[in-house]
Formats: sequence, structure tokens, C-alpha cells
Amino acid sequence: MIEDTSETVLAKRAVNRIEEIAGTFPGYRRAHAKGELYEATFTPTGEATPFTIASHLRDSEVEAIVRFSNISPNPSTADVLAAVKGLSVQFLLNNGDVANLVSITIPIFVTKSPQTFFDILNTVKSFKDGKPHFKDMVKLFTSYPESRAAFQMIRKLKNPKSYATGRYYAVHAFYLVNELGLRTPVKFEWEPEAGIETLSIKESASLPSDFLETEMIDRLEREEVRFRLHIIIGKQDDPTDDPTKEWPQDRQRLEAGVLRIKAKATVTKDNFIFDPTVLPTGIECSDDEILPFRKNTYAVSYERRKKGE
Ligand code: HEM
Repeated sequence: MIEDTSETVLAKRAVNRIEEIAGTFPGYRRAHAKGELYEATFTPTGEATPFTIASHLRDSEVEAIVRFSNISPNPSTADVLAAVKGLSVQFLLNNGDVANLVSITIPIFVTKSPQTFFDILNTVKSFKDGKPHFKDMVKLFTSYPESRAAFQMIRKLKNPKSYATGRYYAVHAFYLVNELGLRTPVKFEWEPEAGIETLSIKESASLPSDFLETEMIDRLEREEVRFRLHIIIGKQDDPTDDPTKEWPQDRQRLEAGVLRIKAKATVTKDNFIFDPTVLPTGIECSDDEILPFRKNTYAVSYERRKKGE
């Protein structure tokens, strides 16, 4: 049972509100409900070594569990209906610890404040086809100026042709810390080795509900699915506490390593929580308030789905 503190109370209320809007689907995650787990390895290039003591970003190849997902809280939502997709990676470190990196197909989030996120949830009356109704969207657009950029992106976002052909962004800033204690602000992105391929509305119309999962199984029979981990190095004035803002495009980029997804995972029970704040020594959360809020909401969601609620 999660104890009530000022932070967990807002997290519980947010998850309650998601359930009121989208419905409750016993045993499923309260967001990104539809998804599958895969087995992978991650091999670092060594390019990040000057910036961090995290060994999986320096010289240690590690196993990883990957989950591709659809943003909707409803596990029956057709893949084409909610364009935002997720790529969650849990690195299984050689010392027995884990490190998470959780990404979606847009580079920014709708707010920098947990309270505003809750207010946004209160503005939305219900979901249709994995999205708020048009009338609620107009209200959101006019009432929350900081959210406009993300809403615009979501509106224009096309579905990927495959989970393997999306670019995935970890959205928040983090810090890499090296052996001298030097902290460098960074963002993470996964670049698909198969290239970026999206679907037109006409192409999407004829596809079956679970086409992304089926396509992934077919693809993995032919080839590994690979993503390159890009680390973007921030400059002094780049905001680290505001996930509604992108950093300028000209920032230095490192290619930190390659994720190789090999097969569907054989685990029978999905006990995974891809909490983005679970990090190893050498990677730290930034001052972005959404990060600790996510920790709490994911714990609430996990507690409920674990009990089959
Ligand atoms: C106010 C902020 C947010 C809230 C309240 C929230 C809420 C949630 C919840 C309740 C879950 C289900 C967790 C579980 O049962 O394990 C989830 C999953 C997920 N969220 Fe968020 N989220 C937020 C922000 C974000 C952001 C900024 C990203 C961008 C990277 C993101 C990406 C994901 C992904 C990819 C999953 C699926 C994780 C998995 O595969 O298990 N979320 N979110």
C-alpha cells in the first residue's frame, strides 16, 4: 500500500482521473496499456565515456528488456488510433541493478507541472478512439498555452509503419556524471536503424487493429531490430526543468551505443515497471518536476494492476 504524502496523493488522484476518463481495464497499465515485451542487448560505443561512470554507457555490453506500446489507457485501442508510441528499455546491469530509459515518438510533453497535468485531466471529459474529444481539445488548446506545442505535434503525428521505424525521445533532461563529479545536462533519443517510415491516413485505414505487434513478430523472424542511442549534450542555458521545450537543434550529439532487439520475451508475467527515475550511478534525474511525479503515478498504476484491479 502506497502511503499518502503530498506527492503520492496527487499521483493517486491523477490515476483515478485517468480511470474516470478512459475506463478501468483490470490488470493493465493505466497508460500505454497495450504493449509487448522483447529481449535485447545494448552495446556501448564508448563515445559517452568522458561524460559518465555508468558502465553500460562506457564499455559493458548488457542484456535488456524492451517494451513497445501504444499510449492509450485502453488495451483494445487499434494501433492506428493513438499515434504516440512508446519504447521502454530496462538495461539489466552486470552488477544485478537495472536502469530504465523510457521514450515516446514526440520530443516534448504537455506540461512541466504535475498540478497542471492534473488540471488538464480535469478538462477532458472522456476519451474516444484513444484521444480526448475535439471539443475538449479546443478547450485544452486555449486554456494551456504551455501545452500547445505538444498538442500540435500529437495532432500532426503520423503512425509509424512499424515499431522499428519510429524515432523515440526520452523527453526529459537528465545529467551524466563522470569520475570527476562533472555533471553534464543531456537528452536521449533512439534513432531507428531501419530508417523513419510513417503511414499515410489512407494506408492506415485498411490495417488490422494489432498490425504493429504482428509486423514486429514477422520482422524479428527475418532480422534484428536495431536502434542507435543518441545523447544530446546541453549547453548552460538549455532548460533542464521544462519538458515542454526542445533544445536547439545544433547541440552536440554522441552515438552512445546500439540496442539490438532479437525476439519476443519469454517471460510469462509482466512485473516490469519502467520508472524513468530508476537510474545507475553516473546518470541522474534533472530538476524536472514531472520525473518524480511519474515515479509516483507508475507505482500507483503498478499497485493496482498487480492486484488485478
Ligand atoms: C504527468 C506525466 C505522466 C504521467 C502521469 C504518466 C502516467 C503513466 C502511467 C500511469 C503509466 C503506466 C505505468 C505502469 O503501470 O507501469 C505510464 C506508462 C508510460 N509512460 Fe507515462 N506518464 C507521464 C509522462 C510521460 C512522459 C513525459 C513520457 C515520455 C517518455 C511517458 C512515457 C510512458 C511510456 C513509454 C509508458 C509505458 C511504460 C511501459 O512500457 O511499461 N510518460 N505513464
